[in-house]
Amino acid sequence: MVTLTSTLLGLATALLLAGKGVMGAQLTAVTYPNNATSKPQMHVYVPDKAWTGQGKSPLVVAIHSCQSSGPSYFNNAKIPWRQGSDRKGYVTVWPSSPHSGGCWDVSSKRSLVRNGGGDSQAIANMILHAIDRYNLDKDRAFITGGSSGGMMSNVMASTYPDLIKAVSLYSGVPAGCFVSSGGGVAQWNNTCSGGQSRASAEQWGNVVRAMYPGYAGPRPKMQIWHGSADGTLSPNNYQETIKQWTNVFGVSQTPTSTIQNFPERNYRTENFGEGGQVQGVWAQGVGHSVPSNLTASEGWFGI
Ligand SMILES: *[C@@H]1O[C@H](CO)[C@@H](O)[C@H](O)[C@H]1NC(C)=O
Ligand SMILES: *[C@@H]1O[C@H](CO)[C@@H](O)[C@H](O)[C@H]1NC(C)=O
Ligand SMILES: *[C@@H]1O[C@H](CO)[C@@H](O)[C@H](O)[C@H]1NC(C)=O
Repeated sequence: MVTLTSTLLGLATALLLAGKGVMGAQLTAVTYPNNATSKPQMHVYVPDKAWTGQGKSPLVVAIHSCQSSGPSYFNNAKIPWRQGSDRKGYVTVWPSSPHSGGCWDVSSKRSLVRNGGGDSQAIANMILHAIDRYNLDKDRAFITGGSSGGMMSNVMASTYPDLIKAVSLYSGVPAGCFVSSGGGVAQWNNTCSGGQSRASAEQWGNVVRAMYPGYAGPRPKMQIWHGSADGTLSPNNYQETIKQWTNVFGVSQTPTSTIQNFPERNYRTENFGEGGQVQGVWAQGVGHSVPSNLTASEGWFGI
């Protein structure tokens, strides 16, 4: 009896210690209240280290590219957000696309309007759940993503501007650029990917405004990275995305400042709006996708 009790005690202690992260923090699948039709899986990473900054921990949502998933993006050595989490102690969320091919739905009305039941609504539900369950700072939720995840970042900024403080997106397309004329879910759009979807700043701004009609509150500041040699999502999409967000913020398309060879040689950083609402990072000679720069994206988020 004594032996059994001590064995059980030992087991319980081991489980407790594992839960406390003695074995190291793990990416964890969590269920979340999700009233969207779309049912993407949610993974969360709570690092061993507590948040090192002021106040409650911020939240970074990292959205994967096509043919990927939350866990494989998390384990991708080129994606630096786990490292950021470990160093500074903030929580990260890793959604997984529910669609075959692993792209995000940035083409159907469902996802392109607020509370339309699509992927955007499901990711918004993940943000709300993470803030609640892990006691995070509701005023500091950030979005990042590459390629399809970069497209989705633009869609999240358009549909849930009230939940998101800032966005740092790599190698995407303007919000609504992948819209499917037939209403198809998670469809590829050759016109947009090929760089033939051109519109005025006003038209692109209208696309964003239509995703959350009547919204007049604050919007996340936008950092947009694109490579000049992108053969998958035409580099034209850089300028179209800048046009879109400068229009939404009602600021000039002429940069307030331009920094050559920053943050890297042959890159160019352009700032738009007196309040620093939009920043473009043009990566000369870089293809699809521009590598994530943790320092620069964290800097944009202010974390
Ligand atoms: C889903 O839940 C959110 C958050 O509680 C709520 O704001 C929204 O109206 C709901 N949407 C639908 C379509 O029921
Ligand atoms: C592709 O997107 C453009 C807008 O960028 C839209 O006008 C066009 O109808 C879309 N193509 C298809 C086949 O849905
Ligand atoms: C990332 O950006 C920072 C500036 O924010 C810069 O100092 C650093 O060199 C960049 N890193 C890479 C690998 O480009």
